[in-house]
Amino acid sequence: MIRYGIIGTGRMGKNHAGVIAEIPEAQVTAAYDIDPAALDMFCSEYQATKCSSARELAAHPEVDCVIITSPTYCHQEGLEAAVAANKPIFCEKALCRTAEAAKEITGLRKNYPKLFTVGFVRRHMPKSVLVKKLLAEGLIGQVRFCNVELPLGLFRRMPGDWFADFQLSGGVMVDMLAHHVDLANWFFGDAKTVYAQGVMLDPAQPRPADYTSAIMTYENNVICNMTCTWARSGRTGELMEIYGDKGYLAITGEDQVTYCPLEGESVKLDPETELGKKNAAVEKDLNEVNFGNSFQLEFQHLTDALNGKDAALPSLQDALNSLKISLAMIDSAKTGKVITL
Ligand SMILES: NC(=O)c1ccc[n+]([C@@H]2O[C@H](COP(=O)([O-])OP(=O)(O)OC[C@H]3O[C@@H](n4cnc5c(N)ncnc54)[C@H](O)[C@@H]3O)[C@@H](O)[C@H]2O)c1
Repeated sequence: MIRYGIIGTGRMGKNHAGVIAEIPEAQVTAAYDIDPAALDMFCSEYQATKCSSARELAAHPEVDCVIITSPTYCHQEGLEAAVAANKPIFCEKALCRTAEAAKEITGLRKNYPKLFTVGFVRRHMPKSVLVKKLLAEGLIGQVRFCNVELPLGLFRRMPGDWFADFQLSGGVMVDMLAHHVDLANWFFGDAKTVYAQGVMLDPAQPRPADYTSAIMTYENNVICNMTCTWARSGRTGELMEIYGDKGYLAITGEDQVTYCPLEGESVKLDPETELGKKNAAVEKDLNEVNFGNSFQLEFQHLTDALNGKDAALPSLQDALNSLKISLAMIDSAKTGKVITL
């Protein structure tokens, strides 16, 4: 049985606790939140011990692994507590908000003997795993360019909410794009340059909204274009299209992968069938592929790793690589320059 302690009992803290409750060999035993009402409600729902600080939670003898789901700008406090207690760590993305915090976290983590993973849930999604595998097998030949669209027309945050404050959340550059920047890094390797323009949650707008258009060029010359919105109207969805010399692969929001050979017809690939042929470990998890299920996969994989089983988990370095690009987008949008990494 893996016993989890949760720092930050908001949206993601509750989501992860609900997911863990479904895993037979895992349970949430303790929680901490700066908001006493949120903490009370969470602890009575999950029969968790109430802690009065991040340090108390991390040091709690009934906590085997610390989950950090506080706002991004508070992650460092939870990470310091977990490292002081020498416990394994799951930290939500984005790792932190600033380059200074990233540097301090890197220092903290040096020679840390325990597991440290980050909430890049898309790495656990069968559709992303399938695309990673097909790219490695050379299905579409040499990749030349990639297009990511992430419109969120459902954005409704108001002033006072930390998501609506660029200094705290980093807007879509740091928050939303973290996942797809990580996927691009996973698929294409290291980025060499970043150029971006963005609204950066400009407070002069009547209501909070955000938009970014960014271009990353990778060391292997893959050009990756990303657009992302926090808009208060319009489309919501996600699409990642990858073009190679021999064809096209796309990951859509519908948990599907589309493959189109060069000058051929598009076909939908079912990740379950495709991965099931060769990957029994993933196959067993592929019952209902939806976003909720992806969190189940994420915490099943984490629980497996903590129980000594093989599981591929995104690392601190992956989180740092993704953040470095987000921060370069900010730098580029502020200066108008192409940033060389
Ligand atoms: N992986 C994903 O798909 C995904 C999705 C949404 C959010 N996130 C990330 O998860 C994290 C949390 O986001 P959320 O949507 O749950 O935010 P939220 O605002 O809903 O919840 C944050 C909670 O943390 C508490 N809190 C604030 N400061 C704290 C502190 N210093 N110590 C402990 N608790 C504190 C708040 O009271 C609140 O209950 C963020 O880093 C966010 O970027 C990840």
